[in-house]
Amino acid sequence: MVDTVTRDKWDKAAPTFDLMASRGAEVRWRPAKEALFSRMGDGNILFAALGTGLDIPTFPAGRHITAIDISPKMLERAAPRVAAYDGEINPLLMDVHEMDFPEASFDQAFTACTFCSVPDPVNGLRAIYRVLKPGGELCMFEHTGSRYYPFKPMMDLMSRLTEKLGPAMNRATVENVKAAGFTVTEVNHIYLDVVKTIIARKPE
Ligand SMILES: C[S@@+](CC[C@H](N)C(=O)[O-])C[C@H]1O[C@@H](n2cnc3c(N)ncnc32)[C@H](O)[C@@H]1O
Repeated sequence: MVDTVTRDKWDKAAPTFDLMASRGAEVRWRPAKEALFSRMGDGNILFAALGTGLDIPTFPAGRHITAIDISPKMLERAAPRVAAYDGEINPLLMDVHEMDFPEASFDQAFTACTFCSVPDPVNGLRAIYRVLKPGGELCMFEHTGSRYYPFKPMMDLMSRLTEKLGPAMNRATVENVKAAGFTVTEVNHIYLDVVKTIIARKPE
C-alpha cells in the first residue's frame, strides 16, 4: 500500500527544497559527502533517497546507480541533475520500506539525510539489508539526535515540529543500523554528534 502521507509531505517540500537545502549546511557538508561517496565502487549501487538530486554533483563519475525516492515531485526536480551525471543513474519511484528488488541485488547502498526522513527507520534499514549482497556496504550521511544536554531535549522538541514538514532531528541512527542487523565499522562526527557518516556492513 502506498504511504500517501509520506509521499504527500515530501511532494509539498519539493518546490522549496533546493532553496532551503542547497546553501548553508549543504555547502559546509559537501567535502564530507564527497569523501563518503568516493567509496562508490564499480558494482551495483543503491542510493536512497535521491530527493532533488543535490548529492549527484558529489558522486564520482562512471558509476551504476539505482536511486529511489517516494516523492514523484522530488524525482521530477532531480531529472536535470540525473541527466547531467557522467555515468548511469536510474531513478525509481519507490518506498524504501517496500523495495521491489530481489534479495542481494546490490554491492553497496548509500543514504544522505534519508533516515531522518523515512517513517520507520529500523524497517527501512532492514529492507536495505535484504537487498544488499552478503558483505555489502552501507554508507550513510545522516542527521542524528544528540546524546548531550541541552541538545537532546532541544532536538526532541524541534523534531515534533520539523517532522510535520520534513525530517526528524533526533533519530538514533547508529543504534537503528545495528538493530537492522548490520555491523557498524566506522562512525565519523561531521558536526558535533548530530551529523555523522556511518559505514556498516552486512555480514558475509
Ligand atoms: C531530507 S531529503 C534528502 C534528499 C537528498 N538525499 C539530499 O540530501 O538532498 C529526504 C528524502 O527522503 C525521501 N523519503 C522519505 N521517506 C521515504 C521513503 N519511505 N522511501 C523513499 N524515500 C523517502 C523524501 O521524499 C526526500 O526526498
